Amino acid sequence: MNVLASLALAAAAVTLSAPAFAQFATPQDAIKHRQSTLKEMQQNFGRVAGMANGRFPFDAAEAAEKSQKAADLIKLPWSGFGPGTEGGKAKPEIWKEQAKFKEYQDVAIGEMGKLAAVSKTGNLDNIKVAVGNTAAACKACHDAFRN
Ligand code: HEC
Repeated sequence: MNVLASLALAAAAVTLSAPAFAQFATPQDAIKHRQSTLKEMQQNFGRVAGMANGRFPFDAAEAAEKSQKAADLIKLPWSGFGPGTEGGKAKPEIWKEQAKFKEYQDVAIGEMGKLAAVSKTGNLDNIKVAVGNTAAACKACHDAFRN
């Protein structure tokens, strides 16, 4: 699903305020939504992380664009973890420790936002630090909540 379609669905869900995974026809659709948005986010973040660790040549404009895309995308997967959507590589603990899961989301969204801001300055040293902090936020949640 593309970003605009996801945003449209999220907006529709807010207006309708229907049951748990209502913006998705089935739990499988919710799982597909979170996996595809996480994957697309990773593709953008991975490019910037690759520039930070020297795997790709540093291109300031591309880093700014990709990290902003990742910062937008990282807000989207979480609507796909509603009640009754257990599955994929998500650990069942997610549905028992909602507050903790949400806290990890907020930290990752915050760190990716900082990366997007820093990338606009084109300072590679600062980008490296922000990439490290963001990757640590991904890892913390994966260690706790992903199989
Ligand atoms: C709040 C918890 C959390 C945070 C933060 C988080 N992830 Fe994940 N991630 C998950 C869970 C849970 C899954 C498994 C989802 C599933 O299979 O249903 C996952 C799956 C993925 C996947 C696999 C998607 C696929 O193709 O199936 C990628 C890639 C990924 N995460 C990248 C990242 C990156 C990069 C970050 C940080 C920028 C990040 N994640 C931050 C919880 C998180």
